[in-house]
Amino acid sequence: MEVKELKHPLIEHKLAILRDKNTGTKEFREIISEIAMFLCYEALKDAKLYDITIETPIKSMKTHKLDENDYVFLPILRAGTGMLDGVIRVIPNAKIGHIGMYRDEETFEPVNYFFKVPSNIEKKTVIILDPMLATGGSALDAIEVLKEKGVKRIKFLSIISAPEGLKRVQDKYPDIEIYTACIDEKLNSNKYIVPGLGDAGDRIFGTK
Ligand code: PRP
Ligand code: URA
Repeated sequence: MEVKELKHPLIEHKLAILRDKNTGTKEFREIISEIAMFLCYEALKDAKLYDITIETPIKSMKTHKLDENDYVFLPILRAGTGMLDGVIRVIPNAKIGHIGMYRDEETFEPVNYFFKVPSNIEKKTVIILDPMLATGGSALDAIEVLKEKGVKRIKFLSIISAPEGLKRVQDKYPDIEIYTACIDEKLNSNKYIVPGLGDAGDRIFGTK
């Protein structure tokens, strides 16, 4: 599948605030969460629904509902947790797993330090959350861990992605659906996304 880039004036507006280095922690967190909500909305466009009959105040009707228990959100620690608020508003009964990953600052390679997911993960649709997809190393590692556990349906939501990282993920895992608010220009020599928004984790948690 093609990477799905959200192209919408509202998203461009929100991204302009997010990217601005003068935007403070509160607003930064709020917008990460809002964009995550829009990404989740888009990623669920093909969601399967089950048949149900309900009673409206007027009459009974046949309609459809989502099995919220089928979904697991998997934020990549730390920055991915910033997207959790938004997606949980869309699917409030989804389960939540955590995968701990950081980029080694010298090699830029991801280091996996934590993995805790709901039982029967292999039967669920797992939606990985990470605001930044840069070299794609963290995304590839998270996907690999899930594939080893037998997960078949995986979607990836990122706020900003670099073309280099997207290509790596797509080349290795063409079956993974990637939804991103924006595909930026490139990576710089420190493997930061250009123009990007800086270090997402530090800006969400105010650590620098
Ligand atoms: C950032 C980001 C991704 C990763 C992306 O995390 O949140 O997980 O880098 O880079 P990659 O595509 O090159 O792997 P970071 O290592 O800064 O950890 P943090 O979330 O704790 O800030
Ligand atoms: N991680 C970030 O937080 N920002 C980038 O630009 C790249 C990786």
